[in-house]
Amino acid sequence: MQIKPSLRSNVFTNSHPLGCQQYVLGLIKEAKTLPNFTGPKKVLIIGGSSGYGLSTRVTLGVNAGAETINVSFESRPKGDRTGSAGWWNNIYFQQAMQSSGKIHKDFVGDAFAQSMKDQVKDYIRKTFGKIDLIVYSLAAGARQHPTTGELVRSTLKTIGEPVTGKTIDIGEMQIKDLTVTPASEQEIKDTVYVMGGSDWLDWVQQLTDANLLNMGAKAISYTYIGSKNNSKIYRDGTIGKAKDDLEAAGVQINQLLKQRIKGEGLISVSKAVVTKASVFIPKIAFYVSTMFEVMKKHGVHESTLQHKHRLFKDMVYGNKRLLDEKGRIRIDHYEMQANIQAEIDAMSKKLENDGIFQLNGTKQFIDEFYQIHGFRFANVNYEADVDMDKLSLLEPK
Ligand code: NAI
Repeated sequence: MQIKPSLRSNVFTNSHPLGCQQYVLGLIKEAKTLPNFTGPKKVLIIGGSSGYGLSTRVTLGVNAGAETINVSFESRPKGDRTGSAGWWNNIYFQQAMQSSGKIHKDFVGDAFAQSMKDQVKDYIRKTFGKIDLIVYSLAAGARQHPTTGELVRSTLKTIGEPVTGKTIDIGEMQIKDLTVTPASEQEIKDTVYVMGGSDWLDWVQQLTDANLLNMGAKAISYTYIGSKNNSKIYRDGTIGKAKDDLEAAGVQINQLLKQRIKGEGLISVSKAVVTKASVFIPKIAFYVSTMFEVMKKHGVHESTLQHKHRLFKDMVYGNKRLLDEKGRIRIDHYEMQANIQAEIDAMSKKLENDGIFQLNGTKQFIDEFYQIHGFRFANVNYEADVDMDKLSLLEPK
């Protein structure tokens, strides 16, 4: 069948397997142009099939020669459904890394579930060997409660007042006003339950108790702060409350790992990039487009992969760590520079009604959004039929 992009309210409902292959190969090729570094040898990534987690897997696999286990929640192809981009990313990452002779194992399923934690622990114990680094890079819309079975959902809402902001409807290529309503107390609690730190803490606690971590092992997760430009919807909204909780879990994890294995727990404040999750957040499309434009102009733009490469090479395993007063790694320092923020702010206001589509930053933002789903690669023939029967035989292993 032919696969054309299918978008609904800035959410892709399909992916192109051969484009996803190009995406992963591009990340690996990019990593090979960057310096290698001494880092962890055995890594567990929770949420490593796309976005920050996938770039983490690529840079640690390619630049530090690490072996990886990835736990991700992705859908396989079925009938006329193409399967999710992350499904194909997992398959093509494994294929591309096969010649390295290193282990890159995938578990596809629910990272919140105890049964998944048991499977992963069993695999570490019997086959993989003890872990040097746990990366928690999950972005989830829902989490099943272990005892009630209830599906708890996260929401992207404000707290207190409604906020109206501009967003880019990528399918229709139009600027739209979007009003985000305030969350109820229950919605705030639910978002913290899904996107906060309790599950990360649970993973680290269980792996420590089962004696599956090497001495000095580290755990890291990714948070976002951003600016006043997007604070009402992000840091001061429901997702911000979840990030407060994640950061508090980071402090607990740091104490736990320090005491038990002389390790450490880290929070990296990462910069805004184009991922499935980020485009879904109102105002972020506008913000990231202008941010790309301004950071490129100042020569401080980094791709998702470059950002994660610098994080691990310089700040997690290197000696150039930048910490803030809360002990968080501030790899977002270029994005947060006062002059960069002032220019983003001025440009966003100026282009609110017109002109945003003329920016190279916006073109890049939109192209990247298509590419993370396997579209807009020059070397893929999108008119050609894709043999889904044959591709459906592939599985992440
Ligand atoms: P993404 O949507 O690209 O990736 C999310 C990952 O979580 C995927 O691998 C997905 O399979 C996995 N996942 C979701 N539900 C799961 C479940 N129940 N079980 C197992 N795996 C599951 O997201 P992105 O943007 O890379 O986000 C990763 C983390 O980075 C999040 O904590 C996010 O808040 C943070 N972050 C993202 C920024 C951005 O601009 N995208 C900026 C700063 C931090």
